[in-house]
Amino acid sequence: MAKVAIVTGGTRGIGEAISLALKERGHTVVANYAGNEEKAKAFTERTGIAAYRWDVGDHEACLVGCKRVEDEVGPIDIVVNNAGITRDGVLHKMTFDDWNEVMRINLGGCFNMAKATFPGMRERKWGRIVNIGSINGQSGQYGQVNYAAAKSGIHGFTKALAQEGAKFGVTVNAIAPGYIDTDMVAAVPATVLEKIVARIPVGRLGAAKEIARGVAFLCDDEAAFVTGSTLSINGGQHMY
Ligand code: CAA
Repeated sequence: MAKVAIVTGGTRGIGEAISLALKERGHTVVANYAGNEEKAKAFTERTGIAAYRWDVGDHEACLVGCKRVEDEVGPIDIVVNNAGITRDGVLHKMTFDDWNEVMRINLGGCFNMAKATFPGMRERKWGRIVNIGSINGQSGQYGQVNYAAAKSGIHGFTKALAQEGAKFGVTVNAIAPGYIDTDMVAAVPATVLEKIVARIPVGRLGAAKEIARGVAFLCDDEAAFVTGSTLSINGGQHMY
């Protein structure tokens, strides 16, 4: 059944692929974005998907933004918490701001979006929340204590909220992407990235579409029995 879906960080990279995949499945999709006005405008022109600007790390902005979407588009039944940033660096060089911004946006964003939308899903007895975690939240990564902690937190958040949503028809799942061909991964120094790719059994970076396909599955009506799970899509780089 067609639903209203919101994808945070939904105008670029993995988020863009997710927005398109959900639209292809007949949902009315809204893409949230934080700052890149030009890219968001081009995205809307290209896809016909409305883009709404706010910072998911800002609690109040999420409440106001989601209310606006619900007034203008309809009750939100699907949330994909995809927005995330990196501020990589070894701990002894990492600033408190690097730590705090990654926690505030990557993990705080999931809480803020859930606070804004979960009560409605619970009342309507149907909902899908998909949180984008990371292989680096599962295994850790040199130079990413902030990102790994936030992503690991997302996996815990997912399992806890899944228990709260289960009896109300609200499923909460996570996807743990590996290294995907996006701007975020392109920012990793080439020599470091080369070594990472060499450790991926499939022998390449993933495509954003390969993550989007997993999200679309988890949002499906027929995925009602899948909750609290983490789907790893990483080319075999980390298996557990
Ligand atoms: N394991 C052990 N040692 C390592 C290492 C590793 N994985 N990576 C680097 N080192 C060592 C280096 O060999 C070097 O040692 P020496 O000083 O003895 O030569 C030392 O650490 C410093 O390395 P750098 O010169 O690279 O240090 P830097 O401060 O310039 O940069 C860094 C450190 C920012 C962490 C950089 O190595 C880096 O960007 N790494 C990639 C981090 C990464 O994978 N980020 C993922 C981003 S994409 C993403 O997060 C999406 C997702 O979900 C998967």
